[in-house]
Amino acid sequence: MTAARQLPGYEVAPWELRWRWLDLDALRKTESTFALSNGHIGFRGSFEEGEPRGLPGTYLNGFYERRPLPYAEAGYGYPEDGQTVVNVTDGKIIRLLVEDEPVDMRYGSAPNHERVLDFRSGTLRRHTEWISPTGRQVRITSERLVSFTQRAIGAIHYEVEPLDGPAQLVVQSELLANEPIERETDDPRVAAVLENALVSDFHTGAEYHAALAHHTRRSGLRMAAAMDHEIDAPGDVWTENHTSDDLGRLTVAAEVPRGQKLRLTKYVAYGWSSQRSTQALLSQVNAALAGARLSGWQGLLDEQRAFLDDFWDSADVEIDGDAELQQAVRFALFHVLQAGARGETRAIPAKGLTGPGYDGHAFWDTETFVLPLLTYTVPDAARNALQWRHSTLDKARKRAVQLGQAGAAFPWRSINGEECSGYWPAGTAAFHVNADVADATARYLAATGDKEFEAQYGLELLVETARLWSSLGHHDAHGRFRIDGVTGPDEYTAIVDNNTYTNLMAQRNLREAATRCEMRPELARELGVDEEETARWRDAADRMVVPWDDMLQVHPQSEGFTRHAYWDFAGTPPENYPLLLHYPYFDLYRKQVIKQADLVLAMWLRGDAFTPEQKARNVAYYEPLTVRDSSLSSCIQAVLNAEVGHLELAYDYFAEAALADLHDLYHNVHQGLHIASLAGSWIVAVAGFGGMRDHGGKLTFAPRLPPELGRIAFRMCFAGSRICVTIRRDEVTYQLVRGEPVHTSHHGEAIALKEGEPVTLPIPPAPQHVPPRQPAGRAPARRRPYPVPS
Ligand code: BGC
Repeated sequence: MTAARQLPGYEVAPWELRWRWLDLDALRKTESTFALSNGHIGFRGSFEEGEPRGLPGTYLNGFYERRPLPYAEAGYGYPEDGQTVVNVTDGKIIRLLVEDEPVDMRYGSAPNHERVLDFRSGTLRRHTEWISPTGRQVRITSERLVSFTQRAIGAIHYEVEPLDGPAQLVVQSELLANEPIERETDDPRVAAVLENALVSDFHTGAEYHAALAHHTRRSGLRMAAAMDHEIDAPGDVWTENHTSDDLGRLTVAAEVPRGQKLRLTKYVAYGWSSQRSTQALLSQVNAALAGARLSGWQGLLDEQRAFLDDFWDSADVEIDGDAELQQAVRFALFHVLQAGARGETRAIPAKGLTGPGYDGHAFWDTETFVLPLLTYTVPDAARNALQWRHSTLDKARKRAVQLGQAGAAFPWRSINGEECSGYWPAGTAAFHVNADVADATARYLAATGDKEFEAQYGLELLVETARLWSSLGHHDAHGRFRIDGVTGPDEYTAIVDNNTYTNLMAQRNLREAATRCEMRPELARELGVDEEETARWRDAADRMVVPWDDMLQVHPQSEGFTRHAYWDFAGTPPENYPLLLHYPYFDLYRKQVIKQADLVLAMWLRGDAFTPEQKARNVAYYEPLTVRDSSLSSCIQAVLNAEVGHLELAYDYFAEAALADLHDLYHNVHQGLHIASLAGSWIVAVAGFGGMRDHGGKLTFAPRLPPELGRIAFRMCFAGSRICVTIRRDEVTYQLVRGEPVHTSHHGEAIALKEGEPVTLPIPPAPQHVPPRQPAGRAPARRRPYPVPS
């Protein structure tokens, strides 16, 4: 490894993320990258000792506090309340004293210290040798997990060994509520920090067990956390149990000879509810603890491993030729799994449960970026996320009524399903989120054939979103269907007429709803849909305006976009990015400058609506305008650049998407990971270099590798079958790993995959076009392949 490569601090390895040095300045970011979660509970990767710490955080998916959304000038339909994820009772804390001296890594020295996030065991391991300021030496090893199989459970196995002679060790294992956290207010995207959000309802402790119950002041949600322990030490131990409103503490003291160990296994259980009583929640967490105790630490480890073996079996992506990207893509898959695995009808927030960024809100990121990955790898998790959307339908219907529309208007950003965006041009007007929900629903239905989901949830999601489009748009004097005054994915262009992405996605939404209603007429009738309504949807879809600039021979991102003045990229200094923090929106809105893939995104999701020539011309037109001030862009630019033949550029964007958090490219990883960008790295591998498309529910492939990579192999599920695609320089092999035959195509040639009959085909040469430029200073870093470390 070169010295430069060592800077980020993570070692390159295929199945783990290891950080070998003590670097207190890096704590806040490694707390995000080392976060553990199962989609229900999230533990940031802070040290057991509680201090030093960066931005400690423990989150429960869906558990939030309301906060006022102040407006300088009020307006009709503005959301009155915001929602902020709460840092709940911290159950990770295990403080340690060695002969009276608190172990605090700010003092003394740590000749050996490393932490390892293991993607196969699903645990965070730590190994520290610490020398106290007075010279006492101990070795601390810990391993922790948030269980994928026992959803309410986190657990830590903690060991201390004196290295220089016998030592009196005192361990204090805590549940700590209302832990103070620091403020960061200069960036509008940063979470509002709520102090003392939790009000104590109850505390109890006896022997090795303690429990605390709290509620939030304004949102009225209740939660309980409980802990239990197993202790193993040579000789006698002295223990004390103490609880108060915001603290549960088990203290354990032991005299430990050199070379022997004090071992503590801590089980922590969490539960929350808007309905259930404190007593019921306490019973629930105690029951969960009993289950975890029954499994024991080894049992939890074994279950975690088995769960992840199954995941990797259906989701792994192998990359030859760039060891760091291999690691980054597995890191990404692991964290996306963590974000969505056990959410169970809760949202998947933009940061997962890894940090407080974006107030813990979920956006369209889930449906458009995360669900393609989950649909084809862990379809049950995709189903759960869509069920969450469905559970918020009543709120979305109310919002549509408030906005004077029919059907349902899903929120731009939310925790509980109510709109929380206080900036309506980017929030409320971004109606495309509804088509994104419909698109994810249609994809899930086509990929799984899940009839029960269709009947209970899917059809209603398609119908209510189709109704929204039907009322939001109108037929003009020429009979064309227009959707005016909306904001597309590019937040540097707002309130536009006929955003091409929105219109094409709405078109698919309307057609999909009509087709599914025609296939299930009884269900459609129950939803009040008749033939007249489906005919209206089809008519709107058929007459949908799709803007076209005849002179430039490209699709304008929205009507009139290509007539706007160009942004002065050459005169924009690098430190003025992201532009939204340095220029007024009014100026961004009236110029040709694009925050993130918009028309280019349409060419991925609605690739069936563009010819290959149009795609190539559109890519050439939009690349020089797109500044990528959002992490949701590089992955999509990679996909389209790969499709039109710019494979090296696609590889650069691939690295940018996959390394967004490991290289902290947006300088805010301490606020949590960019889950959409992480999922985007899977999108690049599978849809970019694998050329996978699923238009109209048909699975097709058109693979091509960038010259830097020797092989990409990925697995995915389709219609209950598992397939593996192995792409090499000149040929690709499709293999049905198990299940019913799959009908697909390779660069347009139909193929049928059957068990035991792999199909190997040559890869045609890529189309040749002049490589596009990017705005001055905004080209992605040229990716140099990272060799396998020796
Ligand atoms: C992007 C949105 C995205 C949000 C959350 C914003 O910067 O423009 O498209 O949904 O971040 O990731």
